[in-house]
Amino acid sequence: MKQIGIGVIGLGEMGLSHANIYAQLPDVRLIGIYDINSALASTIAQRLGTQAFPSLEALLAAPEIEAVSICTPDNLHYESTVQALNAGKHILLEKPLTVDLTEGRELVRRAEQSPQVFMVGHVLRFDPRYYLTRQEVAEGNIGDLIHLYARRNNLLTNARRLRGRTSVAMFLGVHDIDVMLWLMESSVETVYASATSNLLKDLGVADTIMATLRFTSGAVGALEVSWVLPEQFVSGIDARLEVMGTQGAIYVDIHNQGLRVFKHGQLTYPDISYGTQLNGRFIGILKEELAEFILAIKEGRPSPVSAREAYRAVEVAVAIEESARTGEVVRLATEKRAQQP
Ligand SMILES: NC(=O)c1ccc[n+]([C@@H]2O[C@H](COP(=O)([O-])OP(=O)(O)OC[C@H]3O[C@@H](n4cnc5c(N)ncnc54)[C@H](O)[C@@H]3O)[C@@H](O)[C@H]2O)c1
Repeated sequence: MKQIGIGVIGLGEMGLSHANIYAQLPDVRLIGIYDINSALASTIAQRLGTQAFPSLEALLAAPEIEAVSICTPDNLHYESTVQALNAGKHILLEKPLTVDLTEGRELVRRAEQSPQVFMVGHVLRFDPRYYLTRQEVAEGNIGDLIHLYARRNNLLTNARRLRGRTSVAMFLGVHDIDVMLWLMESSVETVYASATSNLLKDLGVADTIMATLRFTSGAVGALEVSWVLPEQFVSGIDARLEVMGTQGAIYVDIHNQGLRVFKHGQLTYPDISYGTQLNGRFIGILKEELAEFILAIKEGRPSPVSAREAYRAVEVAVAIEESARTGEVVRLATEKRAQQP
């Protein structure tokens, strides 16, 4: 069986997860990794039995690396992605595509010119709960969509670790915006959002954003994103999705996942779906996403989540940020869609 040679760029929380999974995937050989923090890269390389490249250029110049995962911070995606595109690699870029619309349009243009797979890591597409929701909606089983509600609340410790270099709309909101667009198969026409900053005022970012979206289909959506759950909260994430249609409704609840552990005087709801281990093997939704990327490369399939689709989510996140800043309703330029990505 031919193995795909892989490199991972950016070895923080996500990059380490990508590297751990690739090191175990049967169709993959983890050739090497790169992080600007060379000490971190060396430690991880040693642990995984791979090599730490001294520079991004060196990693991209390695002919045995056919594909890369790019897991750098949100605001730094553009540069390494352009270099990886220039080097002719298949790319799995962590969400969001970029945080800047001009850069985003350029990435869409370049990705669409590239013969290689260019995928953006919108991981909820590989979560069976969201996937099955999409199947039901696409088959028309709940009729025409009337409204959507999505929540993604994360721990304050996660917001603090990111030190204000990304926003709650970009880091968390794009997940659910992408799901909403995927379900609706319709564009967002207007956005109105309101934000509050209290616990994270020192970092200059919002604690919480509440947004309402109007879709061109006439349906409406509500999005709640927040990253100020207390450290002692029972789970790492409190996420919901509600879909109301003319003939039915669907509810996704990612909070109590069917396992409750009481220890050290505290009740917790551990994650059993996103990424965990079973007999030393990594399992879960993130692994499914990476496996889908590898399958697309091996079988020459179209990208499972294209740059163009990911751009749409960024566009809505930017509109949400603008509305929260100005207090105005933001109208997305739907009439220009024919020319733009
Ligand atoms: N899909 C998901 O569920 C999910 C979850 C968390 C984060 N993410 C995304 O993954 C990406 C990384 O997030 P994270 O939480 O791992 O961040 P992080 O801060 O933990 O890690 C970022 C890493 O990139 C390295 N880095 C910075 N600049 C670099 C450069 N120019 N070249 C190489 N390495 C560089 C840093 O040293 C650090 O090790 C972000 O885009 C984030 O939105 C996705």
